[in-house]
Amino acid sequence: MPEAANGTAAQIERWRARTDATLLHALDTVADGVPHLHAAMRHAVLLGGKRMRPLLVHATARAFNAPEGAADAAAAAVELVHAYSLVHDDLPAMDDDALRRGQPTVHVAFDEATAILAGDALQTLAFALLAEASTLTAEVRLAMVTTLARASGAHGMCGGQALDLAATGGGAIDLAALERLHAMKTGALLRASVALGALAAGVDDATRVRLDNFADALGLAFQIRDDLLDIESDSATLGKTAGKDVAQDKATFPALIGIEASRARLDALALRMDEALAPFGDRVAALAALGRRAIERDH
Ligand code: IPE
Ligand code: IPE
Ligand code: MG
Ligand code: MG
Ligand code: MG
Repeated sequence: MPEAANGTAAQIERWRARTDATLLHALDTVADGVPHLHAAMRHAVLLGGKRMRPLLVHATARAFNAPEGAADAAAAAVELVHAYSLVHDDLPAMDDDALRRGQPTVHVAFDEATAILAGDALQTLAFALLAEASTLTAEVRLAMVTTLARASGAHGMCGGQALDLAATGGGAIDLAALERLHAMKTGALLRASVALGALAAGVDDATRVRLDNFADALGLAFQIRDDLLDIESDSATLGKTAGKDVAQDKATFPALIGIEASRARLDALALRMDEALAPFGDRVAALAALGRRAIERDH
């Protein structure tokens, strides 16, 4: 591996460690609550996960010279929302999954009601963390709260999950509708991650738009890769149940356009990511590496 790439990988690992420390601390702030609810929250957050969203927050913030620490709260907050979305995604009323991040899902390890409440409490913890991020100005905090709330809600992740469930089990869907579904259920939080990093750094409008173009491509690519891995990988590698999209008749890219066309779509999205980042040069090396990871990841 060339030295520059080594440096990028090491930097990404430092951001991961920083994120885990912030998450641990955030969970500790509610440790004096109800023990089994707290245990379920820890189960959902601390037992694995690639931390893609927090890494995007840090990589964006750092690339545009945010002060050290300015991205910590946002990085942890978006991961808390993501972890909650996974807990609810796995519930019997949604995808009904027993395996997540190589562990029993929260409703299996605890019970359904606890999983619902743990998800709810993770979501509110995320917004408390942002609102209380005292190293940021009130204006930046407010913008971050709005960005994460919009991406998580009816026009973002929750809306996408509702479309996903409506399309499950043979609901007719065309390519434009599937792209919108993926952009909402998965793309919105990934886009928000980049937007949060940009807010931490205070970038100008042109930079923000260009970064959003990158993040939009990454978001769609991330879910197309997820759809392909569900078919091509196995449960041990994924840490979640492989083959469940076909079993549940989910609306996915491979189901709608086939495996080869899905791979071609990933290639096109990789190009779009490169084009969006090209003007920024070396400063976005970590961001570019995360973009490639979205497409090349094996779990
Ligand atoms: C899984 O997300 C759900 C999708 C949006 C595809 P990740 O693949 O980021 O899951 P973790 O966080 O690494 O477990
Ligand atoms: C999940 O999509 C998107 C979320 C908002 C959690 P999937 O249902 O495909 O995610 P996995 O495959 O269970 O991780
Ligand atoms: Mg799902
Ligand atoms: Mg699922
Ligand atoms: Mg999936």
